[in-house]
Amino acid sequence: AYDATPYVPQDADLQTLRHAAAGCQGCPLYRNATQTVFGSGDASARVVLIGEQPGDQEDRKGLPFVGPAGGVLMRAIDEAGIDPADTYVTNAVKHFKFERQERGKRRIHKPPNLREMAACRPWLAAELRLLEPEVVIALGASAGKALLGSSFRVTKERGAVLPMPSLDGGGEPAGGALVATIHPSAVLRADDAARAEVYAGLVSDLKVAARLLR
Ligand code: URA
Ligand code: SF4
Repeated sequence: AYDATPYVPQDADLQTLRHAAAGCQGCPLYRNATQTVFGSGDASARVVLIGEQPGDQEDRKGLPFVGPAGGVLMRAIDEAGIDPADTYVTNAVKHFKFERQERGKRRIHKPPNLREMAACRPWLAAELRLLEPEVVIALGASAGKALLGSSFRVTKERGAVLPMPSLDGGGEPAGGALVATIHPSAVLRADDAARAEVYAGLVSDLKVAARLLR
C-alpha cells in the first residue's frame, strides 16, 4: 500500500521533518511533481491551516499557499482577525497532482484520492504532533476528510467548533479545536454574482476560529 511512514523520522523537529519529506516516495505523486511542498510557519503557531495539496505555483516555489488561492486565504485570515504570524500552513497531501492539458503546457489540478491522502497522512500527523495547535482549520473537503474520515461533508460541518481528533490512531481527541470551512479556491471558482457571498462565508467561518484564540 502507499504509505509515507518509512520516510518519516521519529522524534524529529520541523526542520528535520521538512528535510526528510523532500525525499518521500510514499505514493506515486512524487514522480511528476517538481518537489515536496511541506508546511510553512512558526513552530509556536497557535493556528494550523490545512489545505488539500499544493497547486501549480506552490509546486514551483516549494511553499504552500503562495498562489491565487493563498492570496484569498491570507486576505480572509486577516479580515477574520487572525494574525498571520500566528499561523502555520500546510496541506493534506504534499505533492501537486495534475493532468497536462492535451498538447498544452497548462497543468490542471486533480484532486488526490483517498489512497494518496492516507499515504501522506503520517506527515500531517507528525506536523500536528509537534505544533500542538490550539486551533486547526480544515480548508475544504479533502482536508476535512484527511482529519475526520471520508464521511466528512464540508457543507454540513463548516463553521462549527469540533474536537480535534488525534491522527496517531486510537481515535481519542488530540486536544485543541477543529473548525472546517470551504477551500479558498471556491471563492475564485464562484461566478461574479456569488463571489462576494462565498468569500463572506469563508471569513465568517474563520471568525469562529479567531474567537477561540482570545
Ligand atoms: N491549494 C491548496 O489546497 N494548498 C495550497 O498550498 C495551494 C492551493
Ligand atoms: Fe510522499 Fe505525500 Fe508526496 Fe505521496 S504525496 S510521495 S506520501 S509526500
